[in-house]
Amino acid sequence: MSLIADAFYLYFLKWLHLPLQTSVRYTPKDGISKAMRLAFKKGDFRFPIFYYFYPRFKIQKIKSFIMKLLEGKTAIVTGASRGIGKAIAIKFAEEGCNIAFTDLFEDENMKATEAEIAALGVKAKGYASNAADYADTEKVVGEIANEFGQIDVLVNNAGITKDTLLMRMTEDQWDAVINVNLKSVFNFTKAAQKTMLKQRSGSIVNLSSVVGVSGNAGQSNYSASKAGIIGFTKSIAKELGSRGVRSNAIAPGFIITEMTAKIPEDARKAWEANIPMKRGGTPDEVAKTALFLASDLSSYVSGQVINVCGAMNT
Ligand code: NAI
Repeated sequence: MSLIADAFYLYFLKWLHLPLQTSVRYTPKDGISKAMRLAFKKGDFRFPIFYYFYPRFKIQKIKSFIMKLLEGKTAIVTGASRGIGKAIAIKFAEEGCNIAFTDLFEDENMKATEAEIAALGVKAKGYASNAADYADTEKVVGEIANEFGQIDVLVNNAGITKDTLLMRMTEDQWDAVINVNLKSVFNFTKAAQKTMLKQRSGSIVNLSSVVGVSGNAGQSNYSASKAGIIGFTKSIAKELGSRGVRSNAIAPGFIITEMTAKIPEDARKAWEANIPMKRGGTPDEVAKTALFLASDLSSYVSGQVINVCGAMNT
């Protein structure tokens, strides 16, 4: 008899949970009251029943289930008018995060990215700033902190390549890549840490590269900058860990963006043939890892480098 009662009870719970999940799916960012209105509109009364008769202590659990991963947080993403940075900004915004992003110029790309992010219902603002410039960075991070009131996540993404063999590499090519890729990480982390330390929380995500781990012929400047990022990431994790600030790096392999579009077709095919997963990655695939590192899903992960490379680097 009790078996039958249990079966009924389980069925009843399943019957209640299903509309809840559906409501969550169609109104994830608007919370319970909007979800309930929509459920009523659809003639589904199970969700309101569930909400009112479920034990109160479980309601908090439901709310946290409905809350998005970065709800109410603010992230800075550098170099985000296109490519991986843009994909990260959009992924974060989809999870309820307000986005301040930078790029060199306030151009069409920046405006389009800003509009795309704002359309997701979060606060979004693009700032023209040169990440390689210390003073410029101090200024822009100050403006962002004033405008957004908090900085919870910093993604150091801005980067360039100036590939050539060492024998042909000029001092300018070396300096440009080191300054944009590595010094920018110092600039932004130093400027943003003040706010994060005050908050006693924060997550810093730095875009390194598999070539920063393994090196690459014709990319000594780029590889050095990306290896430098790894050393910096690990040091900051040790320096700021006790203050609730985490620092991790992502090492993407071959990701299809405008940066890699510069590589000739045959060279690109050769790269792809050497990747165990036999394809380049997408910016969205890097963004998903950035979301993990930015959010509490990785609350005990710090000082790490995560390869996103289709098994290219193992
Ligand atoms: P991308 O070239 O498509 O985008 C980089 C963005 O950074 C551009 O919008 C550019 O205007 C901006 N930027 C360049 N210099 C800047 C500066 N001084 N200040 C502010 N913004 C600046 O590059 P992609 O592919 O999206 O790469 C993003 C990051 O991921 C870079 O750090 C890159 O090194 C890294 N990465 C990319 C890989 C790939 O296969 N695409 C592989 C491994 C790492």
